[in-house]
Amino acid sequence: MTEVRKPLIAANWKMYKGPRETRDFVGRLAGLYPPRTDRTIVFFPPAISIPAFLVATVGRPDLRVGVQDVHTDLEGAHTGAISARMAAEVGVGWGLAGHSERRNEFGDDDAHVAGKLRRLLDAGLKPVLCVGETLEERTAGRLEEVLRRQIKAVLGGLGGRTWSPPVLAYEPVWAIGTGETASPADASEAHAIVREVLLEAPGDAARAVVLYGGSVKPDNIDALLGARGVDGVLVGGASLEPASFARICLGGTGDGRFDPQLL
Ligand code: PGA
Repeated sequence: MTEVRKPLIAANWKMYKGPRETRDFVGRLAGLYPPRTDRTIVFFPPAISIPAFLVATVGRPDLRVGVQDVHTDLEGAHTGAISARMAAEVGVGWGLAGHSERRNEFGDDDAHVAGKLRRLLDAGLKPVLCVGETLEERTAGRLEEVLRRQIKAVLGGLGGRTWSPPVLAYEPVWAIGTGETASPADASEAHAIVREVLLEAPGDAARAVVLYGGSVKPDNIDALLGARGVDGVLVGGASLEPASFARICLGGTGDGRFDPQLL
């Protein structure tokens, strides 16, 4: 991979931060992380906090926003759900699909994930497909098989839609929220598999953006962003605190702009 890519740094807030905490966070982060053009930053707040996020970032259009989950339908009798079209209407540009918490807690299987990703594309949003193996699967030597299955299900369900560039997050389930991080070498290996699977189907594999997620922290961001094939990160816990996430946003810059005293 010779092309120099602009890292994509994404924050998955999960079910943390209502509108008030969202406003506070943005106000504090803005002072710690000035806009930069050499990276893309995207936040995935709870849907109910998205309008507050958009208001708080009016002067900071570099801080983008996405939706954590959408339904497989555009509308209907689905109590509690929101659709990709609704998310697009409020000004969201991105959407997650296939996060392991959705797969495990809410029963999103590969077919659901494919359906959600289709809806995100139809609504003009940029999907981030999350894939990753459990510890049992890794221990049993099934990493490649699992990634292949999860990615193929989505590629096979695009129904002629263009997903370009494909953005995926490799998130080993055993590293999510556990403090255990894949080593840069493990991340590179998995990312190579992701790219290989993408290449097997027609599409824009050459431009694929592959993020790593799973206990990304200020003290491992530089090593992870420096790993071969890692184009960015998806951050959960360490994105909830402004100083911690500001450091992550400055990851890999090595230009001395970051003041370690912030932490
Ligand atoms: P974590 O979460 O950084 O807290 O491990 C990552 C994720 O779930 O995307």
